[in-house]
This record gives sequence, C-alpha cells and structure tokens, in this order.
Amino acid sequence: MIREYTDTDLSPRNSFHVAQRAARLVEFETADDLRTLFAAGVPERWTVLAGGNNILFTRDYDGVLLTPVATGIEILSDDGRTALVRVEAGVEWDDLVQWAVERGLWGIENLTAIPGKAGAAPVQNIGAYGCEAKDVIERVHLFRTDTLAEETLAGADCGFGYRESVFKHALRGRAVITAVEIRLSHTPAPRLGYGDVEREVAARGGATLRNIREAIASIRRAKLPDPAETGNAGSFFKNPVVDRATAERLLAEWPDMPHYPAADPARVKLAAGWLIDRAGMKGRTEGRVGVHARQALVLVNLGGATGSEVIAFARKVQQAVLDRFGIAIETEVNIL
Ligand code: EPU
Repeated sequence: MIREYTDTDLSPRNSFHVAQRAARLVEFETADDLRTLFAAGVPERWTVLAGGNNILFTRDYDGVLLTPVATGIEILSDDGRTALVRVEAGVEWDDLVQWAVERGLWGIENLTAIPGKAGAAPVQNIGAYGCEAKDVIERVHLFRTDTLAEETLAGADCGFGYRESVFKHALRGRAVITAVEIRLSHTPAPRLGYGDVEREVAARGGATLRNIREAIASIRRAKLPDPAETGNAGSFFKNPVVDRATAERLLAEWPDMPHYPAADPARVKLAAGWLIDRAGMKGRTEGRVGVHARQALVLVNLGGATGSEVIAFARKVQQAVLDRFGIAIETEVNIL
C-alpha cells in the first residue's frame, strides 16, 4: 500500500532532526507499489529515505522521498544448522537483531543497537565490533527504477567494502531495496575481539547471545548519543584508509595512534575519531552544532541547527584533521 505526503516536515524523519521539508514523500511496502508509482512517470528527482539515520538534509527536498514501511521477517528455510531469513526493507534493524537473539540465531548480535532500517543495511554495509552486514547478507531484493523490473542480487555481487556497496555507485539512483535475505546460524560463534566487548561480555557471565547483545548495547550507550535526545547520525566521518607509508610516517610521530588492517593489505585503516580528538576538536561546539564529547566521530545538533550549519562545522573538523595530520577525512553521512 502506498501512502503519500506533500510538503511534509522532515524533522521527525531524520535523526539529525533538521527541520527541512520534502515536496513529496511516499511510503511504500512492495515492489508492486514502486511499479505503480514509477509507471505513472519517473520523478525527476527521488531518493530513498529509510530510517533517516545516515542522512543530512541541507535544504528542502524538491523531489520524491521513498520510505519503505513493510515490516515482515520470515524464515525461508532452516536445516537445523543455519536459517535463511527474509527481512522486508522497513524492519527496524535492531528489531531484527532482537528477533534473532530471541531465536538463538547467531550472526548479527554484534550489530546491536545500530539505528536504521534493514533495507538500508546493505547500502553502506553497516558494521560494528568486528562484524559487517555483508557477513550475513545472502541476497538483496530490489526494484529497478530504470527498467521497472524486480531483481535479486547475490551478496557476492553487491560490491561490499568498508561502508561501501554497489548501491552507492553503479546502482545509485537506479534501484530501491525492497528486502534483504540473511543467513544466520544455530551454532554459537561469538566474536569478542573488538575493544571492550570481551570484558563486558565476561562481566555479564559469558558469551551467550543475550549477554553479547546487552554488552554491545551498553558500550554503544556509553559512547554514542541517543538520537531521540540529541540529533545526530552516528559516525559522521568514515575511518580513513591510507597507504602504508603514510601510516608509518604518522606512527613514527604518534606511536599510540590506533590503526587496523584494511581489506587491501597494502593499506591501513586509521581511526577518524582519534584523529579528530587529537586535533583538539572533541567536545568542541560552535553555535548549535558540536563534536560529541564522548565519541569524536559523531557530530551533534545541540538544538535547532540547520543542515548547512552542520556541514559548515564538519568542514572545520575536516580542516583541523588535515592541518594536524595531513589526512583528508570523508563524510560517511549522505548529504542532500
Ligand atoms: N578514539 C579516540 N577518541 C574518540 C573516538 C575514538 O581516541 O573520540 C579512538 C578509540 O579509543 C579507539 C579508536 O579511536 O582506539 C576507534 O574508536 P572506536 O572503537 O570507538 O570505533 P570507531 O572507529 O570510532 C567504528 C564505527 C562505528 C562502530 C564502531 C565500533 C565507522 C565510521 N564507525 O567507530 O560505527 O560503532 O567502530 O565497531 O567505521 C556508525 O557507523 O555510525 C558507527 C557508530
């Protein structure tokens, strides 16, 4: 079913809570809904607005925003070892994690408390605490807006990388994700190697699904602002991936700089939060925008900020990191 809104206020629909407006917003459930919509004429400008957790509106949107609202979760097959689960695009990601944990299904527990919808998970290949959505995504169902056909893309063909996928590139503006199929496992496979996870899980009595979920929720609560209280979009910047020589140059000067192996063995991933922090920007505010005091990767709307104010401040954060370390950090948030 389609539900349409015109000249609608976006502030309750974006986690930064910026008060821009959209000329038209369409809530849809199925690929058929999208076909009905696009068959009547492809709008000149459109984009998907799912949970609004990774988007920053810097002006009113004069096109059509498409919001998935179908919320089904269905087990397609289960051989006692693994289960294949179809998740409609409008399911809250964290409701899915809760659902899996309650059923003893392993694979996404480390992705607890990530705000956003399941349909958005493949777009930026959401990741946290040593786990990424690509580890479980078997198939993505989509509607092609150029051919009006439904298609299914295998996980291996989604071009997944660190916060990357084909949906940000070749399929950008050509496809709307309608559902995701994920493969979960009945066999316990705790991944506790990241940061404080092991200690927090042990403090709760060991590596059960519920304990891991609670531990990660608590670690995230301690560092990340709750968008219901303080407007933000999670990590505003991506962790930069640099060549080995650059990493070595920086490590010679700052031996305590966090660094991680990148997918490409010739490159090294650095922590943008650390770079921003050491550039002296953590907790810094300017007008109605600031760098979160407990996690420098996150920019916060202190109340009433516009998207343009956030961007102007983000540029200053990027410049401070460039001046201090010679590293250009990119935004992770989709800026419209
Ligand atoms: N650090 C600082 N100061 C800060 C923030 C971080 O020194 O203000 C240091 C930390 O001490 C640590 C390193 O930087 O040594 C990395 O920090 P952390 O483990 O908190 O993770 P992150 O790299 O800052 C990434 C994701 C998060 C995800 C966490 C946990 C990106 C852009 N961000 O953050 O994802 O929750 O790892 O896995 O990759 C998101 O995408 O919205 C998000 C919150």
